[in-house]
Amino acid sequence: MKFFYFVICFMCVNFLEAVCLSERTYRAGVLHLGRELPIKDDESVIYEAGKMHVDILVLPSYSAKDSGNYDEIVSFLSKMAKQAGLYIVTHLYESVKCHHNDEIVRNNIVFDRKGSVVSVYRNPVSNFANCSSSPSELVEFTTDFGITFGSLMMEDIILHDVQYMKGLKNFVMTGADAEAGVLDAAQFSSSWSYVNDVVLISESGIHTGKGGSKSSGRLTVTDIQSGLGSKPVVPSVPVINPSQVPSQYIFRPLNLEASSQGYTETVCHNNLCCEFYVKTKNTGPTDVSYGLAAFDDVRPISRYNIGVQNCAVFACASLYKRSCNLGPYNNTNVYFEKISITGNFTKQKAQYPIIHSTSMLPTENFKFDSNLGSQSTRVALEIVDGQNILKLGIFGRDFSKDSESIFTQSNSESTYDIYELIFNDDVQEFVDYVWIRIRILIVVVSIYVLEMM
Ligand SMILES: *[C@@H]1O[C@H](CO)[C@@H](O)[C@H](O)[C@H]1NC(C)=O
Ligand SMILES: *[C@@H]1O[C@H](CO)[C@@H](O)[C@H](O)[C@H]1NC(C)=O
Ligand SMILES: *[C@@H]1O[C@H](CO)[C@@H](O)[C@H](O)[C@H]1NC(C)=O
Repeated sequence: MKFFYFVICFMCVNFLEAVCLSERTYRAGVLHLGRELPIKDDESVIYEAGKMHVDILVLPSYSAKDSGNYDEIVSFLSKMAKQAGLYIVTHLYESVKCHHNDEIVRNNIVFDRKGSVVSVYRNPVSNFANCSSSPSELVEFTTDFGITFGSLMMEDIILHDVQYMKGLKNFVMTGADAEAGVLDAAQFSSSWSYVNDVVLISESGIHTGKGGSKSSGRLTVTDIQSGLGSKPVVPSVPVINPSQVPSQYIFRPLNLEASSQGYTETVCHNNLCCEFYVKTKNTGPTDVSYGLAAFDDVRPISRYNIGVQNCAVFACASLYKRSCNLGPYNNTNVYFEKISITGNFTKQKAQYPIIHSTSMLPTENFKFDSNLGSQSTRVALEIVDGQNILKLGIFGRDFSKDSESIFTQSNSESTYDIYELIFNDDVQEFVDYVWIRIRILIVVVSIYVLEMM
């Protein structure tokens, strides 16, 4: 009898395994490492990924400093892809001779298992590039495991609408410059993957649509199933020390007294109105002031100015007129029994939920609805039983307001902080700060000059 059960069990396990294996489409890997190490250090990790039967591996972007070593890096990666027997995707800067100048071009480059370059997606760094231009269409490549991938640079998921993605379900994304200290947009990547229910293999991790995100240690490896997960997962966020001051938002302070009973507030900016319903339970004294905010305007990103529409709740250390100083909180002592945010956005299907909390939020406590009636562009985000919420909002795009930026940018400035773009972008404040510093310097120099006279 025991043996009989054993056989049944054995068959069950085999059956389950067969089901699982037949669902497995491919194995993806991401190497999380700064680029400060010499290239050779990648070798061991690439071999390790090869031994783990990774089909496609995304390496961190190389920096603009390496643009002169383009050929050397390409031949190294080609050799590695061949030896480890996997697809390698990375981001390389290339210095191109253009008339008598050098033009810097960014490349998403893909090697197949034989080490051949199967896809190159090139983008000039500046919009005054004379010898290179961005392709107008999504660059794609098909692998020997039967999947067609779209090749994206980090800004693409912000710049383009869903039509650009041509209905593809799998994407690789690179293009963050680690050296410039730019955040990897981990948060937005997971939200983008979640809302569009597509696989996004990026430097920040492997995002599998409604199936959630994975990022762990030095090398993240995940099997991608053919049917994407259907279990909604809150796009979870690493804690980033927020310090910027969003001043272009329209703010209204959250009234904690009123919210203990539950209350509704509407904040509008230009064409966007955000309705907030907040019910809180105060769990102790708090020095956080929450701001309810709306933003509907144009913001710079990369070489472009883009239309952005945001509805958000921020935890502010101090809230003064139209600015909110974000504090480095871990614990806000405010317990949200419920927050719902609803906005009347301009464009359909171009909104993403953003949640930044230092506490875990179970999946069941999160609801995102971007389809409130077929004609409607009303989008709602709802959280119940949320703790230590630092930022919470709906990031939306209004593509009709996009234009090419008139300013060219130097190399280091051509990188962008999507996180900053989503929540705040205080160029003016920064300029003021620099100006104050320069003025101090001028005063010091003047005194020095006067003394010498
Ligand atoms: C591109 O051409 C314009 C005008 O012909 C010139 O002013 C500019 O310096 C060129 N840029 C580069 C990067 O060569
Ligand atoms: C928040 O938590 C981190 C890590 O646990 C800690 O390093 C930091 O000092 C804390 N910050 C505050 C303001 O408590
Ligand atoms: C959103 O609502 C406000 C106030 O009702 C209105 O002025 C605005 O036109 C609406 N925006 C859209 C895109 O419908």
